[in-house]
Amino acid sequence: QSVAILGAPFSKGQKRRGVEHGPKAIRDAGLVERLSNLDYAVHDFGDLTFKHLEKDEHFMHVPFPRTVGRANQLLSGAVSGAVGAGHTCIMLGGDHSLAIGSVEGHAQHCPDLCLIWVDAHADINTPLTSPSGNLHGQSVAFLLKDLQNKMPEVPGFSWMKPFLSARDLVYIGLRDVDPGEHIILKTLGIQYFSMRDIDRMGIQRVMEVTLDHLLARKQRPIHLSFDIDAFDPSLAPATGTPVNGGLTYREGIYVTEEIHNTGLLSVMDVVEVNPTLGATPEAVEATTSLAVDVIASALGQTREGAHVAFPKIP
Ligand code: ARG
Ligand code: MN
Ligand code: MN
Ligand code: MN
Repeated sequence: QSVAILGAPFSKGQKRRGVEHGPKAIRDAGLVERLSNLDYAVHDFGDLTFKHLEKDEHFMHVPFPRTVGRANQLLSGAVSGAVGAGHTCIMLGGDHSLAIGSVEGHAQHCPDLCLIWVDAHADINTPLTSPSGNLHGQSVAFLLKDLQNKMPEVPGFSWMKPFLSARDLVYIGLRDVDPGEHIILKTLGIQYFSMRDIDRMGIQRVMEVTLDHLLARKQRPIHLSFDIDAFDPSLAPATGTPVNGGLTYREGIYVTEEIHNTGLLSVMDVVEVNPTLGATPEAVEATTSLAVDVIASALGQTREGAHVAFPKIP
C-alpha cells in the first residue's frame, strides 16, 4: 500500500494570505511519520511550484482567473500521475479552488469516480451567482456537467471540460450556503447533509445514506475533498472562512473512518488550513494536528486500535 503526498501551496482562489503555507504546516504536524506508522510506503512528492501570472485581469468580479486556472492544470497532471502510478493520493492545500485540478486529474484515471465534499460551504457558485467572486467558492461548478450551460468561459480554464454528474456528489457539513448555491443544489437534486441534517439523523445514518447513494449501484473510486472549515471553529480556528456550529471531532473522524472502511478512497484533498490565521500558536497547532488526524483516519487509523505489526500476542 503506497500513499503519495502532494503539496499545493496556493492561495489565489481567495483573498486572504497565508493558506499557501498549509502544506508545510501539515507536514510539520507529523503527517509522514503518522502514515508510516500505519504501514504505508509514503512517497512525499514535495510541493508544486505555481507560476504567478503577470497579466491576469479580473473576469467579471472574479480575481486571478488565469493564475487559478494554470495552477489547477498543473495540479491535475500531478494528481493524475500519482493515481496512475498506483498511489492513494493526499493533496495538501492551499485553498479549495485546488479541488478543480485535483478532481479533474483523478478523473483522468478514474472516470467513474464519485465525490464526497466535506465543508461548511457548498463551493458551487458560478461567476454569476458568487457574492465574493472568489474561485474557492466555485470549484464544484467547474466540475459539473449539469451546470455547463450556466458557466461562462472563464479565462484560464480552457484546458478542462466538466465531467461530473450531480448524482455522483454528496455534501456533508453544510451551514453557509449562498442563495444562488441553494437554487443550484435544489434544481440539480444534489444529495447534501447540512449540519441540521446531521443534528436530526446522526452522523452514522448520514454516512450510511451517503455511501449508499454513491456506491449502491457499483463500487467505484472515492474522491474525498475535505475543507478543514467543516469542523467547528473551536477545533479548526486557523482557516479563512470559519462558520460556527460545525462538525465535532468525533463526527469528522467517523466520516473518514467510514470512507476508509469502503476500501475505495483514491484521492483526498485537505484544504483551507491557514497557519497565519490562528489567534495563538496553540490555535494553529490544534488545526494542523486535526488535519493530520483526519488524514490518518481516512487512511485506516482506528480508534479501537489495530494489530498490524504483531499478528500474535508477543
Ligand atoms: N460561499 C462563499 C463564497 O462563494 C464562501 C466560500 C468559502 N469557500 C471555501 N472553500 N472556504 O465566497
Ligand atoms: Mn506568506
Ligand atoms: Mn469551506
Ligand atoms: Mn471549501
